Amino acid sequence: MDFAYSEEHEMIRQTARDFAEEVLAKTAAERDRTESFFHEELKQLAELGFLGIVVPEEYGGAGMDTISYMIALEELSCVDASVGVVISVTNSLACYPILEFGTEAQKQKYLIPLAEGKYLGGFCLTEPESGSNAADLKTTAVFDGEHYVLNGSKNFITSGLSGDIFILTAVTDKSKGARGTTAFIIERDLEGIIFGAKEKKMGIRSSDTSSLTLDDCRIPVENRLGEEGMGFKIAMTSLDSGRLGIAAQALGIAQAALEESVKYSKERYQFGRPISEFQAIQFKIADMECRIQAARLLTYRAAYLKDQGKRYTKEAAIAKLCASETATWAADEAVQIHGGYGYTKEFLVERLFRDSRVTEIYEGTSEIMRLVISRAVLDEY
Ligand code: CAA
Repeated sequence: MDFAYSEEHEMIRQTARDFAEEVLAKTAAERDRTESFFHEELKQLAELGFLGIVVPEEYGGAGMDTISYMIALEELSCVDASVGVVISVTNSLACYPILEFGTEAQKQKYLIPLAEGKYLGGFCLTEPESGSNAADLKTTAVFDGEHYVLNGSKNFITSGLSGDIFILTAVTDKSKGARGTTAFIIERDLEGIIFGAKEKKMGIRSSDTSSLTLDDCRIPVENRLGEEGMGFKIAMTSLDSGRLGIAAQALGIAQAALEESVKYSKERYQFGRPISEFQAIQFKIADMECRIQAARLLTYRAAYLKDQGKRYTKEAAIAKLCASETATWAADEAVQIHGGYGYTKEFLVERLFRDSRVTEIYEGTSEIMRLVISRAVLDEY
C-alpha cells in the first residue's frame, strides 16, 4: 500500500490550485450572484486538459489516472463548486461512456472534441416521473429501420443550456424492464429537441441546469451507444464514475469550509481572544479535519479500484455518501463558527452552505447510496 502522491498528482494539484485561485476566484462570487456560466474560464480549462482528464491521449485527453482526476476536481471545487460539477459531468458522464462503450467512429466524432474541450457534455437520465428509480423511464425510442424516433422528457440536466453533446437513455422494449433501455448520443441542435428554461437553484448557480423535451426526435442508428438493451448498465456504470466526481467536488467544498473556518477563527476576537483559542471551536475544526481526511481516503480508494479495472460500485457509493455528508455538515459548522457573519453574503461560507446541499441529491441521493452499499454488503457476507 502506497499513500504517497506521484509527481503527476502533485503537478495536477498545483495546476488546478493555481488556476482556481488566480482565475476562478476572481469571478466565482459574481457568477454565483448573477447565475452566469463560465464560458471564458472553460476555454482555459480545456487548454489545461481538464475536459478529458482520464481520456487517453490518442483520443485528445490528458491520459491521467483517476486519482489525478479526483485531485483536480477537489482543487477546482474548493474555489468554485459550479465549475466542479460541470467538469465532473463532462468527464464522467459524457467522455467516460463513449470511451467505454462507443464505437471507433463515435470516439472520433464525439470523444475527441469532448476531451479537447470543443464540445461540452451532459447526461440525460432523470425524468419528471423517474428519479431514484432510474429503470422506470417513460421516454421511448422506436426504431423505424433507419432512425430511432424519440419522444418524452428529461430534467435536471447539468449543462443543459451550455452543453453540446448528451448521453440519453430511453426505453426500446418496455416488457424487458431495465434490460429494455438503450443509450444514445444526442447533439443539442437536432430537430425535435426543445431545451427548457434555466432552473433557479439554491446553489451551484454558475452551472446551468435545464429540462428537455423530445418530440419525434430522429436519432441516426450510428448514434446508439452500445447495443439495444444496454442503456441501464451504461447509465449505472457511468454513474459509478460520476459519483466519484461528486465525491471529489464535495471534498473541495468541505476543505474550503475548513480553511475558511480556520482563517476566520484566528481573526475573530471575542472575550479578548481569537475564537480559535476556545475549545468549542477547536473541536469543530478537529472533527472537520478527521471527516475530510477519511472521505478523501475513501474517494482515492474507489478511484484506485477503478484504475485497476475492478468493480467499484460499492466503493464509489461509500465515497460519495461520506464526502457529500461531510460537505453539508462541514459547511453548516463553518456557518456556525462564523456566527451572524456566516449568514451574510459577504462571507464565502454562505455559498459553500448552499453549494454543498446538492451533493447529497444528484447522481444518486444519500438514500440511494445507502441502498447500493447495503445491497452489496448483504450479498458479500
Ligand atoms: N454497474 C453495472 N451494472 C449495474 C450497476 C452498476 N453500478 N447497477 C446495476 N447494474 C445492473 C445490475 O447488475 C442488473 O443487471 P442484470 O439485469 O444483468 O441482473 C441491472 O443493472 C438492474 O440492476 P438493479 O436490479 O440493481 O436495478 P434497480 O432498478 O434495483 O436500481 C438503483 C438500482 C441503484 C436504485 C438505480 O436505479 C440508481 O442508481 N438510482 C439512482 C439514479 C441516479 O443516480 N440518478 C441521478 C441522475 S444523473 C444526475 O444527477 C444529473 C446530472 O446532470 C448531475
